[in-house]
Amino acid sequence: MKYDKAFFDQSFDRHNTACVKWDAMEAQYGAGINPMWVADMDFVCPDEITEAMVKRAAHPAYGYTFQTEKATQAMLDFMKRRHHVELTSDEQILLPCVVTGLRAATLSFTSPGDGIIIQPPVYGPFYFSIKDNERKIMECPLNCDENGRYTMNLESIEEACKNGAKMMMLCNPHNPVGRCWTREELEALWAVLKRYDVLLVSDEIHEDFVFEKGAFNAMLNVANGKDDKVIALTSASKTFNLAGLQQAVAFARNTELLKTMSDTMHAVGVVQGNIFGLIAAEAAYTYGDEWLDGMLSYIREGEQILRRELAERLPEAILSPLEATYLAWVDLKAYGITVEELKERCHKAGVEFTFGTFFGEVLGEYHVRINLACQHDRVVKAAESLEKAVKG
Ligand SMILES: Cc1ncc(COP(=O)(O)O)c(C=O)c1O
Repeated sequence: MKYDKAFFDQSFDRHNTACVKWDAMEAQYGAGINPMWVADMDFVCPDEITEAMVKRAAHPAYGYTFQTEKATQAMLDFMKRRHHVELTSDEQILLPCVVTGLRAATLSFTSPGDGIIIQPPVYGPFYFSIKDNERKIMECPLNCDENGRYTMNLESIEEACKNGAKMMMLCNPHNPVGRCWTREELEALWAVLKRYDVLLVSDEIHEDFVFEKGAFNAMLNVANGKDDKVIALTSASKTFNLAGLQQAVAFARNTELLKTMSDTMHAVGVVQGNIFGLIAAEAAYTYGDEWLDGMLSYIREGEQILRRELAERLPEAILSPLEATYLAWVDLKAYGITVEELKERCHKAGVEFTFGTFFGEVLGEYHVRINLACQHDRVVKAAESLEKAVKG
């Protein structure tokens, strides 16, 4: 097998590539810090992607472009093959990135002052997309048990619906808590939203990071009517480490929703794809399966290493079960050190995480999110540094 453990064990130097994860972090905190933060992978992407881009780059004209039928079909085939979602080419539109989709949906389907439901702790740009556009954040916090496993609070969602919520942003699977929502959970959620006519935007960018085949439940399989108000956002960027190429997609069976969102984007001139983003996505969706399976096994081992290290070094830390994503969510409340203090100590100890309050001021406090998409020796090093930071 080409994409085996040895492949993902290879470290490579990402310095001086205008890389946010390494270069921007070192510019801020100094050299030598172990970057375990932003959701970007330290893995070489599949050779088939690089080859496709190099081949295209060899043709020295990079003018206006469009989404070819072949590129669209590769994406739709991938969705069907990996997630059993059957979609047609008119049920998708391109976006520069998933966050563009969150913001465009906010502008398209709500007005200033309208309420939008989110479930903290949740990916920070959910908050920013609402706040920056002067909509109202309606927090329906997740419940958490003593093992760090999170579930939805449907009562609070129903309450928010009664109080006039217009839209909900779902994170499916959920960053940072690692939940892969079950079909039953999504059906129960949809029953509430549909009853109150609340539009659902499901951010499914982490859909490929599940550790059992077929475990991910696409919202468009749960709400699959032509009139259902559901938009799913995704991208090959997270799965294959292509975020710098800026190419994502919105899917909906209700094509009116896509038309409205597309009009919003046209209004600010977001009208076409990116040559290299499209070429890379097509190659990823066509040839990426073996690499993806190898990468998932490697992440699973990384998670086990982290679990073992934390149990030895910080036995009171609670590592949430990782059902999906490559992002480990760690509760350090038992040690009583606030995120503000922990941040400083971690930088001194030589490690950078995404600190919990990025995902919500209250529920994120005392937490760190550890990015496991790196070589295993770096996971061990990160646990050592975290121990040092916590124990002062
Ligand atoms: C849940 C979630 N949505 C969106 C993004 C960002 O996606 P994009 O770069 O396509 O905007 C991330 C990146 O970490 C994410 O975790």
